Parts: sequence; C-alpha cells; structure tokens
Amino acid sequence: MPSDALVVFMPSGRRGRFAVGTSVLQAARSLGVDIDSVCGGRGLCGRCQVLVAEGEFAKHGVRSRADSVSPPGAVEAAYGQTQPLAAGRRLSCSAQVLADVVIDVPSDSQVHRQVVRKAAEAHDIELDPVIRLHYVEVQPPDMHDPSGDLRRLEDALEFEWRLTELDCDVRVLQQLQRALREGQWKVTVAVHGERQIIAVWPGFRERAYGIAIDVGSTTIAAHLCDLSSGEVVAAAGVMNPQIRFGEDLMSRVSYVMMNPGGEREMTDAVRGALNALAADVAHQVGIVPADILEATFVGNPVMHHLLLGIDPVELGGAPFALATDKAITLWAVEIDFAIHRNARIYVLPCIAGHVGADAAGMVLAERPDLSDELTLLVDVGTNAEIVLGNRHRLLACSSPTGPAFEGAQISGGQRAAPGAIERVRIDRATLEPSFKVIGCALWSDEPGFAQAVGAGGVTGICGSGIIELVAELYLAGVVRHDGTIDGALAARSPRVRADARTFSYELHPAEGGRAALRVTQNDVRAIQLAKAALHAGITLLMERLGVERVDRIRLAGAFGSHIDVKYAMVLGMIPDCALDHVSSAGNAAGTGARIALLNQGARREIEQLVRRVEKIETAVEPRFQELFVEAMAIPHLSAPYTQLRKVVELPPRAPAAQGRAERGRRQAARRGHGADS
Ligand code: FES
Repeated sequence: MPSDALVVFMPSGRRGRFAVGTSVLQAARSLGVDIDSVCGGRGLCGRCQVLVAEGEFAKHGVRSRADSVSPPGAVEAAYGQTQPLAAGRRLSCSAQVLADVVIDVPSDSQVHRQVVRKAAEAHDIELDPVIRLHYVEVQPPDMHDPSGDLRRLEDALEFEWRLTELDCDVRVLQQLQRALREGQWKVTVAVHGERQIIAVWPGFRERAYGIAIDVGSTTIAAHLCDLSSGEVVAAAGVMNPQIRFGEDLMSRVSYVMMNPGGEREMTDAVRGALNALAADVAHQVGIVPADILEATFVGNPVMHHLLLGIDPVELGGAPFALATDKAITLWAVEIDFAIHRNARIYVLPCIAGHVGADAAGMVLAERPDLSDELTLLVDVGTNAEIVLGNRHRLLACSSPTGPAFEGAQISGGQRAAPGAIERVRIDRATLEPSFKVIGCALWSDEPGFAQAVGAGGVTGICGSGIIELVAELYLAGVVRHDGTIDGALAARSPRVRADARTFSYELHPAEGGRAALRVTQNDVRAIQLAKAALHAGITLLMERLGVERVDRIRLAGAFGSHIDVKYAMVLGMIPDCALDHVSSAGNAAGTGARIALLNQGARREIEQLVRRVEKIETAVEPRFQELFVEAMAIPHLSAPYTQLRKVVELPPRAPAAQGRAERGRRQAARRGHGADS
C-alpha cells in the first residue's frame, strides 16, 4: 500500500499528495480549499460535508472510488443519528485518505458560498460574515501552570483556529468562567472580524444570527439571517411609529425644531419599534433576541440621525450638513437595541445631506459601478433618492417628491392596504374605468367582483393606483398634456364632472356611507408636482453627466416595486428608456443592509464607493427649477419619449402644446443637452 495519495478537490481543481490516513478536511485546509467548519473537525457541526467522486478521471490521472477514503466510522454514525447524511455525503473531518481520490466540495459546504438572491435582485451575495463561530476545547486551570481562563481560551483559539491577538471586553469576561465550567471546558466562541471575542457559550453551538434593518420613514423592515448559510430565516415589517410626529421627513425635522427634546421622543419611538421587530423575527424561528449577534442598518439621513440619537435639525436647511457621512460601527447597547449584550451594529455610510445610508444600500445591492451600462437607480419615496452612473462615474441627488406617490394629499388616496385600488384601466371609447383592489383577484368589471371585495368594499386609491389612473386618464384623453382635466368630455361621459372652475373624474361611486372616489384637478396637480420633481432631479444628473439617455432604470423601494413601469414612464416620472430595460429592484436598500450583514468585504467596498459618488444638491441648483417646470407636462414638455411611443400610443399633442414642446427642444439643444431622447 502506498504511503501517500493524490487528492484532487473539485470544483477548485486544487491538488496535492498527502500521507495515507490524513483527513480529507486537513488535506483541504493545507491546500487552501474552502470547506466550512465550526466544530474544528469533531464531527459535531456537519458543515464539512463532501462527496467522493467515483470513476476514472483521466484529466487528473486518478481512478477515484468510494473506498479511496476510509469507510464511515463511529463519528459519522453518531452525527447521522441526529442529522442523517444525504446519500454519498461524508464528513471530511472524519473520512481519511487511503488512495488517490477526487473530492467534490458542494457549494453548501463552502465558507464563501454564494447566497442566491431573488430574480428581482441583481447579483448573488458571497457569504463572508464578520462573525464566525468556533468550537474549542480549553485546558482546565492547573496549579503548576497558573494562567487565567481567557489566556487558555486564547491559546485554544490560536491552536485550533489560528486566531491571534484577539480582544475580549469585560462583558464577555463577566460570563467566561461560568461558560467554561458549565461546558466542562468545551465552549463555542463568537469572534467578530477575527479580532474581537464577542460571546462564549458552554458546549457546541451551531448557529449565529444577524439582522438587517431598513429604517424607512414610513415602514421599518427587518430580515433575520442565519450567518452560516446566509439564508433569510424570518422577516417582518412595522410602521415607523415616528409617523405620529409627521408624515414626511421634513415635518419630523420641523417637529424637532418646534418641540425641544422632540428628537429624543422620536429616537425612543424608533428604537422601541426596532426592539419589537427583533423580538418578532426571533420568535418566528424559536430563538430569543439575545441570540442575534450582529445588526446592520440603512436609512435616509433623518432616520439615520434619529436612530443614532443625533439631532437632525441641520438636515432641515441648507447646507444640509450630516453629523457624519461615514459608516459607523458601534455596540448594540449604545442604541438601546436589545439583542445580544455584546452585539455589534454596522450602519452603512450616508452619501449626502439628503442621500442617505439607504441610497448606499441601494448602490451596494445594484452595483452600477461594475457595469459599462449607464444605470439609473431611483428609490421613489417622499424624498426620492437618485443615483446615476456606471463604472466611470457615479452621481447622486435627492428630489423632494412629497407624499403624493404614497396616496397622501390626494382625495381618496390611502396607503397600500386591502381595499385600495392599485390597478386602473380606462376604456378609450367609453371612458369607463375598470380597476383592481388589493386583496381581490378580480377586475371591477368582472362578475362576482362586489362579493369578492367583501364587506370592506373599495376604500381608496393607493400610490400605484394613482399613477395608473392619471396615466390612463392621459392616454384616454381625459387629462391633457398640460395636466388639465378636459371639461369638454363631460358631454361624452357622466364620469367627467364640473367641480366649481375645474373638472374631476369619478372612478367609483359613493357607497355604504363612503364618498365617491374621484380624481380632482388638484389631485392631478399634486401628482404632476411629485413626478416633475423626480424627473427634474434625474435630468439634472443626466445633464451633469452629459448624457441624453440611460441604458437601464431600476426602481427601488416598496412603491417602486409596485408601480407598473410603463405607467411611470407614460406619466413622465422617469426618462425615456426601452421598457424591457426598466425594472423593479425590490427593497434594494434592505438588500444592501443584508449584503453588509453577510459579507464583511462589502462594507469596505461601499465605504470606498460612496466617496466616489459626486453629490448634487437639487435645492441650490437654479437649473432644477427650469427642469421642474418642463417636467410638469405629461409625460414632458419637450422630451419626445421615442422609446415609449414604440409600445404605447401617446395622445397627439394640442397645437399649443406642440409649439411649447418645440421651443423646449430648441432651448435644450441650445444648451447643448437634449432632455430624454
Ligand atoms: S468539521 Fe464539524 S463535522 Fe466535520
């Protein structure tokens, strides 16, 4: 029998000769092959599973068979009793090399495995969490070799895991001695960033949890992740309780300005909600909040400041100075976050006074800097955050869209909830509407709709419904290019009615004590103002970059995920672009927080990336006003929207509007920049 054997690891192709009897895990380690382990090869964690490839591998000159490694022994049998091994799987820490062999390392056994993201999202996440668990056996104290428990723990971590120069703070020391003795000198240690011991538990512990949180002005969303698999194991969202102090960001800043100590109230409110959320997601998987070892946060600048207990008043007026735009790492206890007593928090960096850590999260999720394509990222909220660029340049700004897109300040507007109209179609000939409400699969003109909607009835129109409604009214000719409701159509349809000096369109009649749902001239104006602000912000960035079109558009945020991109373009919220290059990015900010939770390298990357972003402040840009006025028209005063016209028949413009559009185009050409092409 030969004394050594060739071991080839797939898919890496790394190979080497090892003494017969070497464990497959040891062989992998010495070749730098990526195989996971928490228990240090004791057959406890099951992370080190491999498959022995069978057959003739001419390329490697190896005939590999199941018996090229030792047969399963007592350790694997014991492990299999609690967690049966799938067919052909072996614990690499237990299987010993006997002859030349090819070993397949499945992706779920790799430390740096890819976490597959949903279809709406961009890239997969490479798992490389900042926290790792390490199981060790520590030497008990000895009268002849007096040393502290921490020193012997550190020796074990160095010997078994090659971790050196670790820090350990007093909160861990307070529990260390009990943990060691309770575990009979066998403990699991959580190490943060290969530098800091943050927790010690008696015995073997398999899982570490982290939580990624997006603190939005309207909702707060949390994802609880298993840090060893990268999997989202629970998710929850709550309304941001700060809403009682003001619907939008500026009204919350005003509250602080008018009420001394108001920032403290709002900080307490958001922190209370965070603790409830952590308890909720922990409960969903049968753990307690104290089992959560790490948290990452994103949020707009005002939310960011209030979360950290920083007065946001400076963000309420020019020059909109942030207390810091840097990423922040702190202890959970510093923000009263009741997860593990030693948990660390990572808050993503902000980009500018109105472009926050949520926009940084969006950039991290989408990585426009990795592509030659010119990508436009838009998080549509009460304050839209806009990022434009590619691998050469990145620009960002925010635009004060206000709450109209969320259904506020619109008669009949409401938040997205059961009973709210979310989809609308208007018949071009009869001007009759049909619509769908949240929670009901039928359209309003389908049989059985009234019963299907149930007793709650049709309650209002949510943001995506308003976008479609105004866009459909425009396509049907009820709303003109300049945004006025065409009163002449009152002669054609009873739905168009005079309202003092203007007109409105009735979408749904009064019923059950509820007023009729109408779109008034004021509603259309509110939507025009919001979409014009958004479009103007985008055009400002395009002009600054010297481009006339973008290659792709990604709409982020809860609202961005729900709107139909075609209608967003018909309305002129976004510039012209091939429709199949416009898509939803889901909750990109939250995804960015999850990436930062699961991949420590991503933290450095976003920190460097935000420094490269060129910030444009719309509030002090005189050009913004001009662009805003041009963008008030539907879809736009001068932009021809040629791509959109290929798939949607836009109404012909009235001669006066046509003339204004021509003038607008000529002015744009004189400035050397077209708007959209
Ligand atoms: S390393 Fe833990 S079971 Fe093999």
